[in-house]
Amino acid sequence: MTRAPPAPRDLHLLETGRLAELGMQSAELVHELRQPVFASVGLAQLARAELDRPAVDLERLRGQLDGLVQQLDLMHALLGRYGGAGRRPSTVGGPVLLAPPVTAAVQMLDPRARSAGLSLVLELVDGQSQVLGEVVAIQQVAANLLQNALDAARSRVRVRVEGAVLRVLDDGPDPGPDVLGRLFEPFFTTKPPGKGTGLGLAVTRHLVEAHGGSLRLERLGDSTVATVQFQAVSPRKGP
Ligand SMILES: Nc1ncnc2c1ncn2[C@@H]1O[C@H](COP(=O)(O)OP(=O)(O)OP(=O)(O)O)[C@@H](O)[C@H]1O
Ligand SMILES: [Mg+2]
Repeated sequence: MTRAPPAPRDLHLLETGRLAELGMQSAELVHELRQPVFASVGLAQLARAELDRPAVDLERLRGQLDGLVQQLDLMHALLGRYGGAGRRPSTVGGPVLLAPPVTAAVQMLDPRARSAGLSLVLELVDGQSQVLGEVVAIQQVAANLLQNALDAARSRVRVRVEGAVLRVLDDGPDPGPDVLGRLFEPFFTTKPPGKGTGLGLAVTRHLVEAHGGSLRLERLGDSTVATVQFQAVSPRKGP
């Protein structure tokens, strides 16, 4: 039995849906590339300035170039994930350690915390926990939550990894129930134009759910707390 070809109106709808998906995908890619591009420019400028010093510190230069290579690798991976798949990434990936991608996100945003005069503390309660996921996606999740916390914080941000749970806490003002009720909507932002696009949490939630995890943002005492529960992988028992 042959299936009837889609009517022209259905084709139009399919195309509109596909274009909307592509539009969302490129908006996400631009959003996710912004921070590593920013970090790369900063690191390249530092390395250039190091070369102009009367006595070049080779160790410092090596650190800056290693950092630059990491950011370029991240951009390469992001382009591969968004550009190659033809649709928004949704693969879960194998068991990976949770701590390294979270640490990479903290390192990427540490200069931004310093220049804003904020303390940024990373607590790895259990650095050996494994979760189902993809390293780049976990780094994106941590970086987006951390950027929001740095934007909101008055003086400090804490990032904590315990088991399969990632928490990002800041001491900024209470966003209030109206904002907390809407912050996962794509393009919802309370930041001025040029400062926020309202995509960070929409992307983050999409990535977390694609990993079979959950994400919530709430006010607890004097802190705003983002909690990501990843799918835990139980450590392999010895023979
Ligand atoms: N830690 C936080 N404290 C207070 N408000 C927050 C926090 N995280 C998010 N929000 C609120 O949720 C809104 C949406 O966040 P989201 O990350 O999606 O977009 P954005 O940060 O405004 O812009 P973008 O991430 O695209 O640069 C923010 O504009 C802010 O009002
Ligand atoms: Mg954001």
